[in-house]
Amino acid sequence: MTIAATQTFPGPAWQELPEVTLLENWPPEQPLAGVEVLAEAAVRVGAEELELLPDLRLVANYGVGYDGVDVAACRERGVAVTNTPGILDAAVADLTLALILACRRHLVASDRFVRDRRWRSGWAEPEQLGRDLAGATLGLVGMGRIGSEVVRRADAFGMHVVHHRRRDGLPLEELLRAADVVSLHVPLTPETHGLISRKRLALLRDGTTLINTARGAIVDEEALVDELVSGRISAGLDVFADEPQVPEPLLALPNVVLTPHIASATAETRAAMTRVLVDSVLAFLHGEPLPNPVDR
Ligand code: GLV
Repeated sequence: MTIAATQTFPGPAWQELPEVTLLENWPPEQPLAGVEVLAEAAVRVGAEELELLPDLRLVANYGVGYDGVDVAACRERGVAVTNTPGILDAAVADLTLALILACRRHLVASDRFVRDRRWRSGWAEPEQLGRDLAGATLGLVGMGRIGSEVVRRADAFGMHVVHHRRRDGLPLEELLRAADVVSLHVPLTPETHGLISRKRLALLRDGTTLINTARGAIVDEEALVDELVSGRISAGLDVFADEPQVPEPLLALPNVVLTPHIASATAETRAAMTRVLVDSVLAFLHGEPLPNPVDR
């Protein structure tokens, strides 16, 4: 049986797999017979790619989000799909708070200000005043495992947290109108694609901060760029609609903090994700039930 991977994954668990064929290209240039297991991250696995791996039985997706994998197409071909939930919630919540702080306290612009030797007056005459987290309303769109970790941290900062999800919380429009900071914690699905539309972005009050550590395509990115260029709102963005492309106009804006999809990128969390992925592959190899199957 051949196990193929689009890359190697960090941490000791990776060594526990039998021989792994590293794919130089994705998608492969020609059909690869005999590959039964594919370990992948951040690539598209749709019907076309599946055609190139005719013997595939398992897609082990590195990451909690598996929007790059066409699960229905996999199911049709008898290919199981697993992901790595449950171990990255704290890391993603940490980055969410880091982005909130960075935006509300002008951290990146202030760092640049000092490095550019533009700091000439004393501390009592700041160029730009930030905004407190304490007392600010944080609106969470989505309230799963990651959202709950964000709540714990936001509570410690004295933020007032409201949320929206399908079964409870505020209606989305009401939340967007009420929040000082909006943070997105829903998976990318056909239902959430473009959820934060141009019309909904317009509901944000002037000075609101939008944080996205989920998926870029949940927001109408063109509309978001327009709002940010206007200076009406600020944003902390870890994810983009067409990664690694970042819309050019954002690069020069002082009201945006940009990070390259690093929410789960700590040594501990990435190694734990590898552990979970490897456990799925080992379970498959031993004919045991898969620990984290995704079926839709
Ligand atoms: C990363 O974005 C993940 O889905 O885990």
